Amino acid sequence: MLENKKIVLGITGGIAAYKAAELTRALIKAGAEVRVVMTKSAMQFITPLTLQTLSQGQVYTEMFASTDQYDMAHIALADFADAFVVAPATGNVIGKIASGIADDLLTTAIMAQNKPTLICPAMNDKMLANPVVQDNIRKLRQFGYTVMESGVGELACKTSGSGRLPEIPEIVEAVASILTPKDFAGERVLITAGPTEEPLDPVRFITNLSSGKMGYALALAAHQRGAQVTLISGPTKLSPPPVKEIIFVRTALEMYHAVMDHYSKATVIIKAAAVADYRPISLASEKIKKDKGLTGIELTRNPDIIAEIGAKKKKGILVGFAMETQDLLANARQKLLKKNMDMIVANSLREAGAGFQTDTNIITIIDRNGKTVALDKMTKRNAAHRILDHIRTLSKKKGPSKKQ
Ligand code: C5P
Repeated sequence: MLENKKIVLGITGGIAAYKAAELTRALIKAGAEVRVVMTKSAMQFITPLTLQTLSQGQVYTEMFASTDQYDMAHIALADFADAFVVAPATGNVIGKIASGIADDLLTTAIMAQNKPTLICPAMNDKMLANPVVQDNIRKLRQFGYTVMESGVGELACKTSGSGRLPEIPEIVEAVASILTPKDFAGERVLITAGPTEEPLDPVRFITNLSSGKMGYALALAAHQRGAQVTLISGPTKLSPPPVKEIIFVRTALEMYHAVMDHYSKATVIIKAAAVADYRPISLASEKIKKDKGLTGIELTRNPDIIAEIGAKKKKGILVGFAMETQDLLANARQKLLKKNMDMIVANSLREAGAGFQTDTNIITIIDRNGKTVALDKMTKRNAAHRILDHIRTLSKKKGPSKKQ
């Protein structure tokens, strides 16, 4: 996710500084090279040796040390970084950056750089709520810094409230986000994800193996590329991505209504959901008893959501998915034409590392111009970016995509 990215991680003096050790590991695990800068107060909570061991590099603590490594460290760090992250960021450092104070290595290096910068506040809830701190946070946002919302929950000072350091995976995602070019800015992307459930009675339903991972990866990727994302999700076990709007549905009919309510505002529609084609004709109000002798379930067709949008749409890009066990590409091409899609993503159920549940996928992209791109096995996250890249090439040819 952060392969070959160079991150300067600034650690300041709050109790959450101990979590910076875990953050350093997570950034490195995501592929980043990390250089750590610690303030004097941060060193009261965690030692430079810990960070040096975890980051496998020099830890910078002094503004005026005279070794080669420290020579003009603030400029060297600014040149090195693709992005700066301050985690945890105390009220003090937030105030200093907002006011243009540079009285130690971290604040001086931040002043000397113009790279994407992520600030992760962590402090006591009353400190965070202080109007001066809130005003400083507003200022930082106006200056173009990305300031994360603090988590809500138990705080070290034995109170509970807003002020926790955001969870480490959320910080890593936010770092990926500030490093991602915003080539979907201005686009409104509607994505469906996950399976649907078609109930028979209050406890039983018909569903499929979709995990929602591909659709959620697309939602996150589009969000990180600057799109306003509406995600319409069937039941999944995934944590919701930080997109503009998420609508949870259960059945194909609920998904149909949610899509119909929202599609006209979308400039790109991606139907990654595995929608059940059929639903039981009747829904029993009580649990069906086995001694009643349930011999057959009568089914009726669900609406084909993407076909209906394909028939109605005049502008914008419509993307569908095809998952087959046989004749994948021929069937996918047929679907693209029949349902008036602009692009279809075919993934086989027969290949290891592709399809439902897995974290990887093997996809072939086919577009309305007949272009076919077969991709190797990759993470669903990377596949999502490749799908968005291809959408971008289509919408460029069409001119900026407009509302329906
Ligand atoms: O024809 P098939 O169901 O295989 O097509 C798959 C594509 O159609 C997917 O993009 C899926 O989200 C969409 N679909 C739909 N409504 C349905 C069934 C599938 O939008 N009832």
